Amino acid sequence: MIRSWHLGDDRQSLVLASFDDRLPEAVYWGPALPTGENLETLSAAALADVTGGMVDRNAGLSLCPEASESFPGQTGLTARNASGTPLMPSFRFESEAASEHGLTLVFADNSLDLSLVFDLVLTPETSLLKLQTRLESANEITVDWLAAPVLPVPAHTGEMIEFSGRWCAEFLNHRLPFAPGSRVRDNRTGRTDHAHFPGLVVCNAGTSNTAGEAFAFHYGWSGGHKMVAEELADGRRQVQFGHATASLASGRHFVSAPLYATYSATGFNGAAVRFQRHVRDHVVQGARTPRPVHYNCWEAVYFKHDLDELKAIASQAADLGAERFVLDDGWFGRRDDDTSSLGDWVIDKRKYPDGLTPLIDHIKALGMEFGIWFEPEMVNEDSDLCRAHPDWVLGHADQIRGRQQLVLDMSRQEVRDYLYTHIADVLKNNDIGYIKWDHNRILPVVDARQAEGFYELVDRLRSDFPAVEIESCSSGGGRIDFGVLERTHRVWLSDSNDALERQRIQHDAALFLPASATGSHVGPRHCHTSGRTLDIRLRAWTAAQRHMGFEMDPRELTEAEAETLRNVTSWWKANRDWMMQADILRLDSADPAVIAEQQLAGDGSRFVAFAALTRPSDQILPRPLRLTGLDPQGRYRLSLVNRDEAPRLSRGAPLLKHQDLEASGQYLMSHGLTLPWRFPETVWVVEGERL
Ligand code: GLA
Repeated sequence: MIRSWHLGDDRQSLVLASFDDRLPEAVYWGPALPTGENLETLSAAALADVTGGMVDRNAGLSLCPEASESFPGQTGLTARNASGTPLMPSFRFESEAASEHGLTLVFADNSLDLSLVFDLVLTPETSLLKLQTRLESANEITVDWLAAPVLPVPAHTGEMIEFSGRWCAEFLNHRLPFAPGSRVRDNRTGRTDHAHFPGLVVCNAGTSNTAGEAFAFHYGWSGGHKMVAEELADGRRQVQFGHATASLASGRHFVSAPLYATYSATGFNGAAVRFQRHVRDHVVQGARTPRPVHYNCWEAVYFKHDLDELKAIASQAADLGAERFVLDDGWFGRRDDDTSSLGDWVIDKRKYPDGLTPLIDHIKALGMEFGIWFEPEMVNEDSDLCRAHPDWVLGHADQIRGRQQLVLDMSRQEVRDYLYTHIADVLKNNDIGYIKWDHNRILPVVDARQAEGFYELVDRLRSDFPAVEIESCSSGGGRIDFGVLERTHRVWLSDSNDALERQRIQHDAALFLPASATGSHVGPRHCHTSGRTLDIRLRAWTAAQRHMGFEMDPRELTEAEAETLRNVTSWWKANRDWMMQADILRLDSADPAVIAEQQLAGDGSRFVAFAALTRPSDQILPRPLRLTGLDPQGRYRLSLVNRDEAPRLSRGAPLLKHQDLEASGQYLMSHGLTLPWRFPETVWVVEGERL
């Protein structure tokens, strides 16, 4: 007997089938099937043959492949009973419930008193699947591994892109063959981490940004994940995501984080746009619009807080166009460097004898919102908190410190209450609209309760201070995932304010993140993390590609630099209403020295393309830049916004250098733009409007 279900829209179909009441398998996932397709026939047609050397029935590659079926690869659940004996459940259909856009399927093993529930939703506006597995046990058990609903990827996909990274180089991606055996990522850092962004894109050799098939995944969890991308000996391929191994405690209720997945027939961009829109419109809650231009004082003053200097800096930042001022690390306890005071969230009277009010008043008078830095989950041994509650520290006593700091045990209610009270006090007694929430080390032990405790604390603060926006930072991009974005509004993508590095990081992060939630700041002329010296135009345009901000001492700017920054900032302000709602489409540049993207308004009426030349090209002339996502029949007017940046060595007369261009979408996407010659480390900015 076959039961079957269909989740789909006009872009993709996911067909699930349960054979003889066993766990459901995704028997089809790909382009939308025509209406009227017989799901039962299709399910039966997908059953594979059996030959010599095999068991007599192929174990199902189900939403949770079972050990009891002798599944020949990674199973979806590994659990033990109270005496340590491995559990080998064999689940059977119990019930189903359909919601408007989703499905809940319940299966049970009554001999073990276990039930397994799959919550499956397809959000119609974004065509993103959101999939979760729940396990309920009548008895206390230990779960070592529980995968979110497991999806197969088809045999014709030969490659995968997965992510690594480091401090100042987040979202590094690797394109690998999908080969027999498994590619496993078990992130034991206890946080999302720079080195393990929980994403995967399975594709073909020919898939590009703008064309080809892609099956894309993201696991929305901040506590460290495990991913398995496996090709079985029989050729089937599966993708599993769950919490990092052994991070779950013993109990009776277990739930995976949501796995977000989508199928795209239009290259990486097809998937990227769905993730971007989903984050912007369904994950992030209550972000301020228009997005205010940000100023952060970290790279200007570090721990040296002097009221008069900060006021002077704030005045200049406002003059440049900033609308929010964030006071970074150094305002609390006796925090003169990074060796002390984390945990002591009281204003340092040495630096602020009259509290923060004089600074906040100054900032408000300039028309800016005031924001402040916290790193709640951390503690220094040199702090009043640690002296009073040494037992609140997570992990063993002789653990290796990280940035001289220890981690608080967030599973403890008294720890969360302490943090809530101190943060709430600062918020209640000061006019604060924004928190930069940092997390600057990996954990000494991997335990899901840490991320759960973090979520609970943020949720409580969010519900009591709904007007306060929060930025997720973790030494830059160490805590970027949809779990944290459900409770915050912006991510600090990277501690690298090097605009060249940012170009690459932003480009790759756009596979998942919208501009509205991605912070990007104009850093100092001499970059503090790379040692490079970069021109203000490159720095300003790079920040203008995302949620724009500044993070240098504005007093270092020459008048000419300040003028450039003012101009780019006002350009950003004039365009942010539509740009922060636009899709970021990564362009396939024919020149590997060029990183290019096109931000296209949802209704296709306008766009802006940014093309950064990151190093000298191999060929002497710029290769045409092909646009994407336009109506081939439509006509567009294009203008090179910063044509005055063309250097004297550009001696010819390409049309865009002197005037606007009118052309069809077909021409712009097939031939592409002929841009003027320019120096490396510059960005061309081209605005387009549909006529
Ligand atoms: C981390 C953050 C920085 C800054 C410092 C403050 O490194 O990523 O942006 O806030 O902490 O200590």
